[in-house]
Amino acid sequence: MLVNIKDIYEKVQELSQLEEERRFEEINKLEKIKVGGWVKSIREGKEKIFITLNDGSTSNSLQIIISRKNFSQSDLLEQINFASSLLVSGKLILTPEREQNCELQVSEIALINPTVNDYPLQKKNIPLEVVRNYPYLRAKTNYFLAIFRLRHAISRAIHDFFHQAGFYYIPTPIITSNDTEGAGELFNITANEKEPFFSRSAKLTVSGQLQAEALAQGLGKVYTFSPCFRAEKSHTTRHLAEFWMVEPEMAFADLNKIIDLAEELIKYVINYVLNNNSPELKYLESYDKENKKEIISKLKKIVDNQFKKVDYAQALEILKVKKENFIFNDIKWDMDLQSEHEKYLCQYFNNSPVFITNYPANLKAFYMKNNPEGKTVACFDLLFPEIGELVGGSMREDNYHILRKKAQKIGLDLENMSWYLNLRKYGYAPSGGFGLGLERLIMFISGTENIRDTIAFPRFPGKLEF
Ligand code: 4AD
Ligand code: MG
Repeated sequence: MLVNIKDIYEKVQELSQLEEERRFEEINKLEKIKVGGWVKSIREGKEKIFITLNDGSTSNSLQIIISRKNFSQSDLLEQINFASSLLVSGKLILTPEREQNCELQVSEIALINPTVNDYPLQKKNIPLEVVRNYPYLRAKTNYFLAIFRLRHAISRAIHDFFHQAGFYYIPTPIITSNDTEGAGELFNITANEKEPFFSRSAKLTVSGQLQAEALAQGLGKVYTFSPCFRAEKSHTTRHLAEFWMVEPEMAFADLNKIIDLAEELIKYVINYVLNNNSPELKYLESYDKENKKEIISKLKKIVDNQFKKVDYAQALEILKVKKENFIFNDIKWDMDLQSEHEKYLCQYFNNSPVFITNYPANLKAFYMKNNPEGKTVACFDLLFPEIGELVGGSMREDNYHILRKKAQKIGLDLENMSWYLNLRKYGYAPSGGFGLGLERLIMFISGTENIRDTIAFPRFPGKLEF
């Protein structure tokens, strides 16, 4: 019976509820167990060989014990090396006194494939910068196994949250002709044909928001969760050229409702991970032996406390008091918050996430709704400790004429945007939403310092492999 290691540990956990005698009886009843996986370590003793095998189903590896005396395939043992793939069969034995509460006593091994000598990730604890040169081998390192499992869990929790909150999942197009953010950071797409493929110039989307707005005007509550592309030459630890964004959009909304939704979503996801991914979180806490991280307590603090909220004007007042501490120290109205300011604002609030609301209109995207005083827009950025901006959202301008003027002012093609403007003419209900960058959330949850280590095949300026 081929089983995965996760199921083995779950079975043993189930058996641990039984009285000792029954437990050993039940385990003896199990058929011969067969597991396929990759070798994580080999320790050779005089009488026994210990191999740890991982099959990807869980962070926990399975200890495989080969007793030299009773093992007929001794020539095979010479060939098994680090990272080989094996199929092993044997009998499960309980070891309640050990950290891993069972091991496999091997009767038969099939070496599926050994690893050749030039395997670049031979050593343990290879720095992430080195692993970054071999993205196709990332799934062979424990760090990335933990990150990819977390990424899966976080994505699943996002879908669960929106489903439970009554949102429809409607993915928006990747190929578009619209520049949602109006920032001109679009990748162009061409086909190898003389005639243009589409009637307009095609781009990769920077955000699905505009299309999500159209869907919300009928479905009420929708979200899109898809890759977004930005051709910004940022060589920072927080930017990717291809990243994933989840964008809910809600009709009959107001700014406070959207802000509350963002806080509820993040707390739901973090709670989910705390309840379901403790092996990954514990591994990531102690990954760097010299610089252990407090991940679990940090996450608990996030779910147990209300996020802070200040408006842009108040944020400037807080920054002015400390202005000599900043490189950008000319703190004044209309300035974009730099990452040093964002970090300080979180620190000021005892490392709490902070919503900054009502930014000056000319710092923000054209679609954001003007506030009645005319100077600011009904928007927010959610700043997170260590990360900076994790979420950006707003109410959308619902006045056709104002929106048209704002689009025109930044030079958008009005004819191409007419569908979006027209939505305002056909029973438009006040709509708002936000975008949350998945990789930045993974950075925060996992304590990963470089966004390039939160996605399997990162894309950033100057590099395109695989
Ligand atoms: O603030 P942004 O640009 O907002 C929008 O795109 C809106 N249309 C969202 C909406 O209201 N529906 O991006 C939202 C979030 C950021 O806060 C950040 O977390 C992430 O997307 N993000 C990036 N993540 C990684 N690399 C990049 N280059 C990113 N640009 C934005
Ligand atoms: Mg933003």
